[in-house]
Amino acid sequence: MINRRQFLYLAGAGAASVLNLHGLPFAKTTLAASKKSDFSPDVELSLRAKPAEVDIFPGQPTTVWRYSGQVIKGDPSNLMHLDQSFLGPIIRVRQRQKVRIHFKNDLPARSIIHWHGLHVPASMDGHPKDVIPTGETFTYEFEILNRAGTYWYHPHPHGRTGHQVYGGLAGLFLVTDAEEEKLNLPNEGLDIPLVIQDRVFNHDNQLVYLPRGMHDSMTGMLGDTICVNGSPEFKLSVSTRAYRLRILNGSNSRIYKLAWSDGTPLTVIATDGGLLEKPIEKKYVVLGPAERIELWADFSQYAVGTSLELVSKYFEPAMQGSALGPRRGMTGSDMLPNGAPFSVLKINVATKETETRSLPRKLSEIERYQRADTDNADNPRQFSFFMRHMHGLINGRTFRMQEVGADERIRLNSTEVWELANDDRRMGMMMPMPHPVHLHGKQFQVVERSGALHSGYVDEGWKDTVLLMPGERARIVTNFTDYTGMFLYHCHILEHGDMGMMRNYLIT
Ligand code: C2O
Ligand code: CU
Ligand code: CU
Repeated sequence: MINRRQFLYLAGAGAASVLNLHGLPFAKTTLAASKKSDFSPDVELSLRAKPAEVDIFPGQPTTVWRYSGQVIKGDPSNLMHLDQSFLGPIIRVRQRQKVRIHFKNDLPARSIIHWHGLHVPASMDGHPKDVIPTGETFTYEFEILNRAGTYWYHPHPHGRTGHQVYGGLAGLFLVTDAEEEKLNLPNEGLDIPLVIQDRVFNHDNQLVYLPRGMHDSMTGMLGDTICVNGSPEFKLSVSTRAYRLRILNGSNSRIYKLAWSDGTPLTVIATDGGLLEKPIEKKYVVLGPAERIELWADFSQYAVGTSLELVSKYFEPAMQGSALGPRRGMTGSDMLPNGAPFSVLKINVATKETETRSLPRKLSEIERYQRADTDNADNPRQFSFFMRHMHGLINGRTFRMQEVGADERIRLNSTEVWELANDDRRMGMMMPMPHPVHLHGKQFQVVERSGALHSGYVDEGWKDTVLLMPGERARIVTNFTDYTGMFLYHCHILEHGDMGMMRNYLIT
């Protein structure tokens, strides 16, 4: 019998596609021009990206690309390190804090960090035009204007984002504020970050990216091994108490339909942009790439010794009938297509402890937008996402580094409604794909939407990414305050973004 990973290797799942994440071809040491500014940070951190070896499986270590961090000024708790994980350290700051972060690029490639979900100046947002070469440092300075929530950071070099995130470059960015603190939600050991990602590992324990080349770019990279916080065997040992689970779908392209294995509904307390007004119960939650949810998970009803799973349930993948897939059963993406059911993580109720908290009935105040509140209520900006001839397009245009169309110019302080449509099907794509649409710059609200997986979406809170399955459309509202400049919006299937399904919008 050969096991699955050996099979992958023997099937030749891209010996040539094994990620070459080794060593630096050259080490140029350019010192960052030390910046003179009157910005005085409350928190100063350094983040360094470089190749590293981690023990994921017995035997050979896995070469990854990894962020490591240090606190230069602030509190040690501003950075939380995940041992042996390929993920970056968790950054934890408070609203209104001024943060300076020195990003040192020790990768054998250009890179830049983007703060996903944070409302920062355009020059601090990690636009791909701002990539820095090997050996250089980019210094970020911004104030935390966001409300409390689970944000994250990852590279954004154009055409290489999928590759670099897949290699291990991603981390959580947690913000807290006074409103959240008053709630006394489960904290410290009861506040658990869970970053879910899928990967393909070969026989030598190495990551394999795009084993089928263009086919995998079209579907987005799908792995057959589900990792949580960088571990394929993630287990959570809990006591009979309430926990706060912060879940990020950090996958390049996989969609999860999350549920508890015993049928207990999920209690959702937050979305991409922080706490909901009140908790809501869901049979399941559909989470597209880059989306976050937070759960209140109360294990006090379970007997010690109970085991439970967080699972991803079957859904109609909507992208079958692939004209491009020559053989089935040969690679990770065929073994675990989008929509296939699997276990995400195992939970073991290990110890008895008395619960001291109860789920708050009210979590926060959210001012709900109405479409009528917007400056273009009768004339929503329309953005149509589809693939054509191996290019990712938005309104028929692919990404150009500095290009902004007439329909992509926005007035500062305007409140707008945008209509986002997944038009793969309408454009006659053989293999219509999901497009999780993400806006840099501002959190938004989903005010209307059509969709097949509708009952799994959590549209009640602030969002920065909205999943559109083939044929779906959503109307979102936001106000473009504080910062002018050029921000991205794009499909967060990272391979689609890399294929050009990304554009700039300009606030003036
Ligand atoms: Cu996580 Cu441009 O995005
Ligand atoms: Cu972003
Ligand atoms: Cu897409």
